[in-house]
Amino acid sequence: MLFPRQSVGLAQACFYFSSRFVRRGTPVLHPHACNGLNWARRMTSDGSQGPGKKQMGKPRWRLTAAGLLVGTGAVLAYGLAQEQSEHAASSPNDNSEVPLQDNSTTTATKVYPVYSREEVVKHRTLADRVWVTFKGEIFDITDFVGLHPGGNKIMLAAGGALEPFWALYAVHSQEHVLEILSQYKVGELSAEDQLEKSYSDDVSDPYARDPQRHPALVVNSLKPFNAEPPPEILTEDPITPNTFFFKRNHLPVPHVDPASYKLEISGTGLPDTLTLTLNDLKTKFTKHTVIATLQCAGNRRSEMNKVKTVKGLEWGRGAISTARWGGVRLRDVLLHAGYKPDSCSLVQHVQFEGLDKDVTGTSYGASIPLHKALSEDGDVLLAYEMNGEVLPLDHGFPLRVVVPGVVGARNVKWLGKIILSAEESQSHWQQNDYKGFSPSVDWDTVDFSSAPAIQELPIQSAITEPENGAILEKDSDMLTIKGYAWSGGGREVVRVDVSLDGGKTWCVAELRSAEGEEAPPLGKAWAWKLWQLSVPFPPDMNQLDIVCKAVDNSYNTQPDTVAPIWNLRGVLCNAWHRVRVTVTTH
Ligand code: MTE
Repeated sequence: MLFPRQSVGLAQACFYFSSRFVRRGTPVLHPHACNGLNWARRMTSDGSQGPGKKQMGKPRWRLTAAGLLVGTGAVLAYGLAQEQSEHAASSPNDNSEVPLQDNSTTTATKVYPVYSREEVVKHRTLADRVWVTFKGEIFDITDFVGLHPGGNKIMLAAGGALEPFWALYAVHSQEHVLEILSQYKVGELSAEDQLEKSYSDDVSDPYARDPQRHPALVVNSLKPFNAEPPPEILTEDPITPNTFFFKRNHLPVPHVDPASYKLEISGTGLPDTLTLTLNDLKTKFTKHTVIATLQCAGNRRSEMNKVKTVKGLEWGRGAISTARWGGVRLRDVLLHAGYKPDSCSLVQHVQFEGLDKDVTGTSYGASIPLHKALSEDGDVLLAYEMNGEVLPLDHGFPLRVVVPGVVGARNVKWLGKIILSAEESQSHWQQNDYKGFSPSVDWDTVDFSSAPAIQELPIQSAITEPENGAILEKDSDMLTIKGYAWSGGGREVVRVDVSLDGGKTWCVAELRSAEGEEAPPLGKAWAWKLWQLSVPFPPDMNQLDIVCKAVDNSYNTQPDTVAPIWNLRGVLCNAWHRVRVTVTTH
């Protein structure tokens, strides 16, 4: 998170400090807003005038001079080095635990205290001091927070690892940024936590072996783990980093040994049961990659809950994310197993069973129609990679199904079995969940067998910035609004309309996709589009009712309000997304 906009000028960096979007309930993060600018000015005009000059040794000056050559970030490093040394001198807490930074010309190897990940996570606020980790080292960046050119986004990293943020903001991958960071080192992460294997030993807790997750995730339920990325991260890049990809688990995460893992393929229309190892999958089949968005049917459920109570997790607008998946085509595996299309009309569905089980030993399960599984254009993958990395534990290691254009629930993780059948999966999640109903159906009258299981999702869009309830300072003429838009079934989003006056007048937003300018092949728009609108602040309006709605290439669009699409399970919430903000002037 350090210096995400290395190339911006100081004035611009300072602009970021001033935190353009002041959010309701957000702590004030910039006690030293623009101090970096003041320091830099003092330093360039008169090196001897820097604050805390008496504590500055020669190496620090050399570092600062080098920083000047490479950019704004390092100029600010001067200020932060000052602050740090001041803090180190004044903080009894730090003195007791960590050797003071040695600013003299000799550098001795320091021994740092070792902390657990659990301890690091406790340091998430300025009051508790802000700690982050990078490559097994722990840094107390409290005094840098106000100097961060990227504003308070740095607080998203508080208590967690910097790596996923630096992957998102590539500008950090520079030698001098690491040098700056190194000045804040206060400890080392325990060896156990570096291996990310610090499970609790509590054998009575089926979730004790769940993987560690980044504290920036907005958690909806801990056991089972369900969390969404913070909105600022969600639309930072068309590809969501694995760490921040939303996580939707119904059961404890199973731990599967990749060496002994076997996928079983059986059912109607197959000569025999076929078992494949992970190695078979990786070596006997052609590898394919697909960029696809996954969205949970419950995305935006919290808005439905406001109309009338629904059952389910209170998802905001973050139960949606996009990754580049790598693996083998389900079609190829089914044909390899001996399935002959057209020779067996009995088979209508492909069922999937996960290796995660509830207390009765029942696995998570779901199914998709056979035509989707077999279609060359369906792009259904058995994925073992996510964004170029081994599939993470939370996302189905070692193998999951990715069904582009289809609701998240059918994208079965920790895949154990594939079964060809005349019937849909009989699992609870296919039969008695993830279905839509009329708003007048309640829990006394609902008949789950009367509604089809959700497969392709309807068109969706949402605003990620600004936040509902934000107070926007009109310190520039332009207002920027950001969000995402996606449609199920491979239908391409062709337009996003944005209104500032609750839907009376509209502007068309700019669209951006992971594939760049090129339009996806017809019917294969599997990934969302991010959108942005920059418009002048409307004069004489101190309250804006910002609304967005998307249109896909079948000219489907979103309903304007939630009430007519309300349903007891709170699924399929795709009404116009609305945020109300206040505009102030200095
Ligand atoms: N597969 C298994 N085995 N177990 C699960 O709990 N959750 C499903 C689906 N596949 C689930 C599963 C649901 S409801 C969703 S929305 C997606 O996984 C979420 O995938 P993600 O956690 O990778 O985002």
